[in-house]
Amino acid sequence: MGVVTLTGAKNSVLKLMAASLLAVGTTTITNVPDILDVEIMAELLRRLGCDVSHDLPAGTVTITVPEAPDHRADYDLVRRMRASICVLGPLVARVGAADVALPGGDNIGSRGLDMHVDGLRQMGAEVTSEHGYLLANAPQRLQGARIWLDFPSVGATETILMAAVLADGETVIDNAAREPEIIDICTMLLAMGAHIDGVGTSTLVVEGVDSLSPVTHATVPDRIVGGTWAVAAAITGGDITVRGAHAEHLDIALEKLVTAGATVTVLDDGFRVVMQSRPKAVDIVTLPYPGFPTDLQPQFIALNAVSQGAALVTENLFEARFRFVQELARLGADVRTDGHHALVRGRATLSAAPVEATDIRAGAGLVLAGLVAEGQTTVYGVGHIDRGYAGFVPALQSLGAQVVRDEIAD
Ligand code: EPU
Repeated sequence: MGVVTLTGAKNSVLKLMAASLLAVGTTTITNVPDILDVEIMAELLRRLGCDVSHDLPAGTVTITVPEAPDHRADYDLVRRMRASICVLGPLVARVGAADVALPGGDNIGSRGLDMHVDGLRQMGAEVTSEHGYLLANAPQRLQGARIWLDFPSVGATETILMAAVLADGETVIDNAAREPEIIDICTMLLAMGAHIDGVGTSTLVVEGVDSLSPVTHATVPDRIVGGTWAVAAAITGGDITVRGAHAEHLDIALEKLVTAGATVTVLDDGFRVVMQSRPKAVDIVTLPYPGFPTDLQPQFIALNAVSQGAALVTENLFEARFRFVQELARLGADVRTDGHHALVRGRATLSAAPVEATDIRAGAGLVLAGLVAEGQTTVYGVGHIDRGYAGFVPALQSLGAQVVRDEIAD
């Protein structure tokens, strides 16, 4: 039996830090996780002319935004963190221009940024691409527009929202994302003085204002880290209490664990997951919130890999996420993929081996599988895990897992 306490969500705090650009003065963000991506975003904001100080053990970041920030996000930072694109909306809105390096594999109009770009264009920005940079210009103030997203993209919703709060007139974002992280940024923008209706629904109505004021805002807890600990309890036959969590943000995932045989108790400030038998395989279909989160898909594939029975996992957001299955297969997992489906047949045991983490969530899934594989599993590429999980190894150790971090092995 063990206890872990969540800090703020990576996928919220980066956007909150970007949103600070919308107001001149000092914004303070609390409940900030001690992860690499926060350092990268701090560096990006510094290069834009902000004064950023952070006390990450204490979970606080303070950003002082000048009257006229710079507007260029260089490739060396964007390459390290795709989420750097979240400065696009605030910069166009505040400065009337943004030059943001394109994350690898993206082109204007291609899958990936098309909805961000279309949204800004509909608001009057001119957006082009040159020498690997996306160049957005809006010498006149952005104009409110009615924008229909083809898909409830988290990133596109955020870009358009952060542009709309300072635009002239009303912007309606239809088919908007509804993730708790979107609600978090809306909450911060409202406190800054923005006018937003429909928060938490698929239709956001934003009435632009002339200026916003800096605030102090606490980051929403990281539901994906919480979900990862929940799976850790289920896969190891353990008992973990997750504190500082909003259980309602994990409704479907926790329900799946109950179907798998776990006992889940919702507490005032979190939840407890207890598993006393071998888990049963559970089907998963990833979808935008409130659907099952893609960011917990690898962890649930790991769980299914040692469960009783077979499960069909359908990935609707990022097909490349199944790449990690090849690594799981090195541990003896029986997983077959076809397009965006994976068939997982549970095995009684996995067999330890060296494996490579290819992204944050794949890394988490492989560590979970390693916890139950017979023998010693080495997970390479733990730098990926550092991007999203603060103090992962010490937390695992405190729960009784036999895990060490070996810098040389990476
Ligand atoms: N998409 C487009 N065009 C766009 C925008 C998105 O085709 O203009 C597509 C994407 O290619 C993808 C799908 O829409 O297939 C979903 O993309 P979305 O924009 O919703 O995701 P995101 O904003 O890029 C955030 C998180 C991801 C998380 C997704 C879905 C951050 C920094 N990243 O990405 O987190 O998986 O939402 O919830 O917030 C992670 O933490 O491991 C991670 C990848």
